[in-house]
Amino acid sequence: MTDEQNFSRKKYRASARAHANVAAAKYWGKRNDSLNLPIFDSIAFNIDALSTETTATWTDDERDALIINDWHVPPQSMTRISRLLDKIREMKGWKKHCTLVSRNNFPLSTGLASSASGGAAATMAAVHAAQLDLPQSQISALARLCSGSAARSIPQGWTRWRAGSAEDGSDSFAVSIAPPNHWNLQLFVIQVSDAPKNISSTEGMKRSESSPFWNAYIAEAARAADVIQNAILQKDFRAFSEAVMQNTMMMHAVALTAKPPVCYFAPKTIEILQKIMRICRAMPVCCTIDAGANVVVITDNIAAPFVKNDIIAMGLTYIQSCVGGGTELITA
Ligand code: PMV
Repeated sequence: MTDEQNFSRKKYRASARAHANVAAAKYWGKRNDSLNLPIFDSIAFNIDALSTETTATWTDDERDALIINDWHVPPQSMTRISRLLDKIREMKGWKKHCTLVSRNNFPLSTGLASSASGGAAATMAAVHAAQLDLPQSQISALARLCSGSAARSIPQGWTRWRAGSAEDGSDSFAVSIAPPNHWNLQLFVIQVSDAPKNISSTEGMKRSESSPFWNAYIAEAARAADVIQNAILQKDFRAFSEAVMQNTMMMHAVALTAKPPVCYFAPKTIEILQKIMRICRAMPVCCTIDAGANVVVITDNIAAPFVKNDIIAMGLTYIQSCVGGGTELITA
């Protein structure tokens, strides 16, 4: 590589770190598939201990490249990332291609939202490497193109993804509703399985529309964001846990009753769920499950040691975390 080529690569290079997020009020249902536009608002929190670091470099190479944990993603699996990179190319009016090198500190596709942290880190890195100066809302809307939930990993702490109503998705982005230290809850991400899930979120959402309960679900789930946001702002654990658990069950209810049915639960998922439903009568604890077998248990600082003992007694592997910050640029 000549000095000039090397200089050009460095000039158009940036690195970012993003955290995974877990939904308290789920995004489950799209009004536009290719732009990942949701039917209703969702609420999430970033998980400090789960992160992805990505370096983006715009080059004169002939095609885009994506390398995740040393795995070269085949071109046919790059549709989502291409949507983002095409949009940046359009904004820049250039024909350059982007190489994204990404590393997660947790397994891919296990319901631990690697698509969220991966999409957010890639977006932040690619935008800055292209030397675009965009507001956070626009970066969140771009991240949404990779994976809907990635929009929520851009802002810090507790976030709300506003569904928006514009057809082009320009008003569909996430904002922070509270910083990470607003409410010192403890999170236990319980890894039930490290095998990739066999039905993607997109497929799961699509199939759920065939559930006989779908219309009731969207009417009810649309209200969850306000209820859960209020509980978070007031630090009302009882209201929060009731709404979070019900919201989880509603999402899985429409998945389970779809044609053909979608079941993300593994036997251990049910075991943990039943345990949490038993102990939540005696202490502040609840749990949520995204599109995978893993469970995220949420509790406060006082109950955390007791909950941890229960998790250990069940022989489970877990990652303990607090609520995390937003996506940040780093020096690679
Ligand atoms: O962002 P996606 O396409 O991976 O969908 C995420 C769907 C859920 O994790 C189940 C819910 C959510 O709000 O994150």
